[in-house]
This record gives sequence, C-alpha cells and structure tokens, in this order.
Amino acid sequence: MQNLEQILSAAQSDFAACANIADLEQAKAKYLGKSGALTEQLKGLGKLSAEERPTAGAAINVVKQGVEQALQARRDAILDAEQAQKLASETLDVTLPGRGRKQGGLHPVTRTLARIEHLFHSIGFEVAEGPEIETDFYNFTALNIPDDHPARAMHDTFYVDDQHVLRTHTSPIQVRYMQAHVARHQQLETMPDVRIIAPGRVYRVDSDATHSPMFHQVEGLWIGEAVSFADLKGVIADFLKNFFETDDMQVRFRPSFFPFTEPSAEIDLAFTSGPRQGKWLEVAGCGMVHPNVLGHVGIDSEKYIGFAFGFGVERLAMLRYGVSDLRLFFENDLRFLKQFA
Ligand code: FA5
Ligand code: MG
Repeated sequence: MQNLEQILSAAQSDFAACANIADLEQAKAKYLGKSGALTEQLKGLGKLSAEERPTAGAAINVVKQGVEQALQARRDAILDAEQAQKLASETLDVTLPGRGRKQGGLHPVTRTLARIEHLFHSIGFEVAEGPEIETDFYNFTALNIPDDHPARAMHDTFYVDDQHVLRTHTSPIQVRYMQAHVARHQQLETMPDVRIIAPGRVYRVDSDATHSPMFHQVEGLWIGEAVSFADLKGVIADFLKNFFETDDMQVRFRPSFFPFTEPSAEIDLAFTSGPRQGKWLEVAGCGMVHPNVLGHVGIDSEKYIGFAFGFGVERLAMLRYGVSDLRLFFENDLRFLKQFA
C-alpha cells in the first residue's frame, strides 16, 4: 500500500503537469475515482481492527482534503489562464479607423412628389390614395371606357388576370374617392366640394427617353357646383409657376381626347429661356369630368361639375432638374442620384 504522503505529493505533481481541464479530470480519476488510490485506501479500512480504524480513517481524510484542494487550485489556475488568453486574443484595436456610414438622400422623384403635394396642399387639396393592382371596372369601365374601346389598348396595359390590371393611370383613384365622398355626405342636401390630388405609381408597356414602363402620376380632381375650365387653367398655371419658380414659361392647353373628360386637353410646357428654351414637352392630360363618370359614382351631373388632370411626375422632374432621359431616374446609378441629395 502506498504511503499517504506519497499519494498526496504524486497527486500534486500530476495536477501541476495538466495543461487543460480534460487532462485534469483524467488525473483526478487516478486518485478520487472508483478505483483511485485514495478510494482503495478507504476500502482498506474494513480490514483494520475497530481500534485502528478511526485514526487511519482520519489520516486518509486529511490527505483526501489535500488532494481535493490541489485539484481545485489547479482547476482555477487553468480556467484563469484560458480566460486571460481569450481576452488577449479578442482585444479590439481602438486605434483602427472606423468603417463610416454614408449619408443617403431622397430620390429626385420622391422630392418632386413631395413638392407637388406641398404646393397643392397649400391651396386646399387633400391627398388620396388607391391600389396599384386595379380592377378592370375602376381602371376603365367607371371612367367611361367601354369594353371594346380602343383606349384599353391605347394604354398598352399589363394585365394581372382577366379582371385585374396594373393601373395605367391614377384616374381610378378619382372614382374610388368620389364613391366614398358620396357615401360620407349622403344625408346632406348639398355635397361639399371634392378637392383632391392622388399621387402614385402607374404602369404601361412603354419605354423610350420620355416613357418608362413604371412611372408616377399625380391626379387632381375638383368637383363643386360652379367649377369651370377657367378654374382648371388658373390652378394649373399657378401650380406650374410655383413648381418651377419662374414666369419664363409658356403653358399650352392642346385639344385632345379622354373618354372620362369633355372637353379634354393635353398640357404642354416650354421654357422661354434657359437650355430647354422653346422645347415643348407634354406634362399632363386634363379636362372637365364627363357626366357619365359622375353618374357612375352617384353624383348628379346637372348640379355638380368639375375638372380633373393627371400629371406625369417624372416629366416634371426632368424639366425641373434638366434631365434629358427619363429612364435615368430608375437606373439607380449613384453618380446620377448623388447630384440631387
Ligand atoms: C392619362 O393618363 C390621363 N389619365 C390623364 C388625365 C387625368 C386626363 C384626368 C384627364 C383627366 P396620359 O396618358 O396622357 O393621360 O398621361 C398623363 C401624363 O403622364 C402624360 O402627360 C405624361 O406626362 C405622363 N406619361 C404618360 N406615359 C408615360 C410614360 N410611359 N412614362 C412617363 N410618363 C408618362
Ligand atoms: Mg397624353
């Protein structure tokens, strides 16, 4: 049988030689495990006489405590060393330069939309919205465009299914808004004026320097008891002067056709000075709302009358910022976009 003191010093030097916790657990088993040296000693007590047993037992326990202390001390030392090593390997070099965060900016079309909304808001127009996937009824039928009318092809429409299209213009929002307006004021003898603008994305099978398959329009609508074409011209001329912050422009109302207005016109714009001087660009369609459209939403066309218009937002942005190809707005080239931030 090994001498108790030898056991203690063997354990101490075994533990000291362990470099990690796994090795230490192995070394521990050698002394404190099921058939470890100290366990064997304890088993041996049974063979001693009743008088010898307490002293021998006490001596074994003293050594056992010593082994456990040595084990715990080594365990702490290993964990401390591991921790220190981990901390050393994970240190941050706070003197390295930061990655930095670049400043973004609003897209020129977003800025243009905000400007249009602000200007119309200041003369009492509210902003209305509608869905981009529109029913055939709201996009065409309610706007007095019958099933077999060439206007349905004229728009070069993206069909989602038989009954749904990606809206080709913002005019369906007029219809939705007027229906809700009528429902809201049903009990009144005289309906308050409808005075809204409706901005949004629209879609057509179109692509060249002044046409994109997705673009934005801002619809305008004013319905009341005595709203005239002269009011339409006044509102539009005033808006354009404020929008471009100049009087150096000509605005032309060119007779045109829309099934939902009568009479109808296209609004063309040319500057009388600057690099675009004398170049006409169509910026909107407009007209007096057709009695059939008012009839579809339950407004008495004998009593109420008004105008509607639909601006192309990118066209206004092109003119304001001097951009020659509208498709540049959607290429997301930062060299282009940064000029507006
Ligand atoms: C319409 O869409 C009518 N709904 C406008 C309207 C509203 C008339 C209310 C009467 C009453 P038009 O197809 O002309 O009309 O389009 C209106 C404007 O959108 C055009 O003047 C132009 O500025 C712009 N536009 C049309 N197609 C494109 C396109 N593919 N890309 C960019 N802008 C476009
Ligand atoms: Mg047009």
